[in-house]
Amino acid sequence: MKSLDQIVALAKRRGFVYQASEIYGGLNGVYDFGHLGVLLKQNIRSAWRQSILTTQSNILFLEGSLLGPHALWEASGHTQNFSDPMIDCTNCKRRFRADDIDIKKACPVCGKAAWTDIRQFQLMFKTNVGAVSDKSSVAYLRPETAQSIFVNFKNMMSTNRVKLPFGIAQIGKAFRNEITPKQFLFRMREFEQMELEWFCKPDQADRFFKLWVESRHAFYTHIGVNPSNIKLRPHDTKELAHYSSRTTDIEYEFPFGYKELEGIADRGDFDLKQHSTHSGKDLSVYDDETKSSYIPHVIECSVGVDRLFLTLLCDAYTQDTIGGEERTMLKFSPRMAPIKAAFLPLTKKLSEQTIALYNDIAQQGFMVEFDESGSIGKRYRRQDEIGTPVCFTYDFESLEDNAVTVRSRDTAQQERIGIDRVSSYLHDLLT
Ligand code: GAP
Repeated sequence: MKSLDQIVALAKRRGFVYQASEIYGGLNGVYDFGHLGVLLKQNIRSAWRQSILTTQSNILFLEGSLLGPHALWEASGHTQNFSDPMIDCTNCKRRFRADDIDIKKACPVCGKAAWTDIRQFQLMFKTNVGAVSDKSSVAYLRPETAQSIFVNFKNMMSTNRVKLPFGIAQIGKAFRNEITPKQFLFRMREFEQMELEWFCKPDQADRFFKLWVESRHAFYTHIGVNPSNIKLRPHDTKELAHYSSRTTDIEYEFPFGYKELEGIADRGDFDLKQHSTHSGKDLSVYDDETKSSYIPHVIECSVGVDRLFLTLLCDAYTQDTIGGEERTMLKFSPRMAPIKAAFLPLTKKLSEQTIALYNDIAQQGFMVEFDESGSIGKRYRRQDEIGTPVCFTYDFESLEDNAVTVRSRDTAQQERIGIDRVSSYLHDLLT
């Protein structure tokens, strides 16, 4: 049984993730990503990009600003609706999300039942832009990337000369002042989203909603997540966000239970209509067939890079016994693994030849490592723990037969291949 604590410890020990500003006591709900974390994130982003483009090719990419004026967030409904119910314990002064705990019972921290009333807590980070701090300079850090797509809808459509249906996709940071950030990367205050807004005619929305749910569901198996840990959960009408007429969540079974990994929502014409009304700019589209204008409907697919990062860590975390010795490994699919292969000389006497092979493979664009320190067994364990699918060991025989031993992470089985086959071996592994 794997616990979140074990996964957090490995992520820190091996330099995937660090607490932000750790030497100053840390900033709650904010994290920094180390070398392996950066590589894993890059693989997540590129797998997502590739997946949406293989579902529908007519997708444009946008990188919107992080700050948005008050007017934008009023139009989107966030200033009025984007809040969580908050409650305090007057005894121990702890603060909770009221929907996270049972307020009919005593405080889970101090055991006293001394609750304040429930208040709504605005989740957006507010700031002022420019030297003057007044009502007109109020701006917010975006709590979702989607709005910059909606406000750029007309710009994107006209400058790229596309026709409906088409999509606009964006990967970027979002910020939410969560009352209780928790469960590591699951609920953060600064995080990254991958969002696709798919614009279509109103009568096409049903078909595209189903298509995107199916495609997004299949994506997770495709990147190696165990399908038995994934399920679809359509929302009840009562829990729908203010902009959505229907939503299906893709849930993953984290060590703390089934929780949302991605949401697919039918946002109808809510956002474009709101921005049309509030900005006074016409965001409708002219239909040559019917000779009339209409506001497109939107199907949204939204997933957090960090939440998917945590999903991959949880899903890949495996403990087993090899040759009577316990080991921990991350069983990433080769495509998602941060490091694709390690090159290990059997002894330091063989380092020169191994480095030459390592350099040759690295220069071909493979993300690989060279490691000469410690016993060969320890070096294998180190690579297992960061999820490297294969290790190539250069030994004294290699000097004679021009071959290396390939050792598989998952089975610990070894085979011998010619050095001239290493590149194609890796290529096959990744495709
Ligand atoms: N534009 C729609 C939207 O933002 P959401 O369900 O609030 O919808 C979408 O967020 C996705 O963003 C979630 O499914 C999750 O993967 C990620 N996400 C949301 N809040 C997060 C947080 N506080 N920390 C990490 N990821 C978060």
